[in-house]
Amino acid sequence: MTLDLTRRDWLVGGTALAGSLIASTITSAQTVPEANLTPTPENPIRAGFNENVYGPSLKAKKVMDEAAKTAHLYDFFGQRKLNQVIAKMENLPGDHIAIDNGSTPFLEKTTFACAIQQGKVLAPNPTYGSVTGTAKMLGLDIISVPVGENMGIDLDAMRSAMTDDVKLVYLCNPNNPIPSIIEKNSLRDFCIEMSKRAIVLVDEAYYEYVNNPDFESMKSLVTEHKNIIVCRTASKIHGFAGVRMGFAFAHPETMRLITGPFNLSLSNVAVAGAVESYQDTEYQTFIKQKNRESMDILEKMFKDLNYEYIKSNSNFAFFNAGRPSTEVATALKKHGIISGRPFPPFTNWVRMSTVKPEEMQYVVDAYRKEFG
Ligand SMILES: Cc1ncc(COP(=O)(O)O)c(C=O)c1O
Repeated sequence: MTLDLTRRDWLVGGTALAGSLIASTITSAQTVPEANLTPTPENPIRAGFNENVYGPSLKAKKVMDEAAKTAHLYDFFGQRKLNQVIAKMENLPGDHIAIDNGSTPFLEKTTFACAIQQGKVLAPNPTYGSVTGTAKMLGLDIISVPVGENMGIDLDAMRSAMTDDVKLVYLCNPNNPIPSIIEKNSLRDFCIEMSKRAIVLVDEAYYEYVNNPDFESMKSLVTEHKNIIVCRTASKIHGFAGVRMGFAFAHPETMRLITGPFNLSLSNVAVAGAVESYQDTEYQTFIKQKNRESMDILEKMFKDLNYEYIKSNSNFAFFNAGRPSTEVATALKKHGIISGRPFPPFTNWVRMSTVKPEEMQYVVDAYRKEFG
């Protein structure tokens, strides 16, 4: 694996930037690679997968390149270091943190644990499909609770739908595809209450993007409440979707559900990159800033077109296009743009991930050419 860092990578912000770049605007140095303003089916603008199109930070790429030289070794020491970095950052004891190849393994393993007990799964709808999809594959019953009128996750309705045979309650906060959050106090009460009856899994994949005083991570609950698991991923703000890195926070007694006796399945490249990336707060600030710029471009279009949309707490928007999202996807595809797939029952709503601001403007221009 070679991740070459060329001088050009550092200067792609444009030659005008070059003079001031090294002296002050370190965040500009993160603009790698250049925006894709000539998208094609082979090299599309990927506004459909909630990725970070900037990729990993330069600091992370550099250590990953180095780590590839020792890829033949099991990386116990690196894992320990990463555990310490996350423990310090999250203010949790190290034995409350599990590391895996993204958050998907935690979502799946928790669902397998529910299957062993032949339990049902309680989840909102729509939501991220890993838990419910795994449950379906395992033949489990899913109690699916529609979001409320404001399209937020309806905790009261979930509470009413809870039964004794539910062994897993899944919550995604912020939710996906609807980028809303659950108010922190009611969420905390709900998690504590439900954890007396089932495992509560809170998926905080988009946690870093939230800028909302009503939001709070549920991580602090895991020290006292054995049935609560919180999972996070490096796939989003850290740009590790293809590198693979994720975390779960849980009580040590709950770890048996989501970890094995040895953790040999981690890549030393991903571990080294994550150690660097999680400490690179400047990079995260840069990505949040770019996400905001792109979201502003999208929201301006929604306002100009008088579209209904959900205020985003994430790196994607959800808007009512007034026509099937499949029609939007087909039209945008002609411009080399990938937008989100349909999310029933909101089939006229489109999920659009942020891309680089220049690309976002390209997407908006293409959309307006097609639909006004
Ligand atoms: C809410 C949510 N959870 C988990 C994932 C999967 O993340 P990972 O790449 O860490 O497996 C995604 C991916 O889009 C997601 O949207």
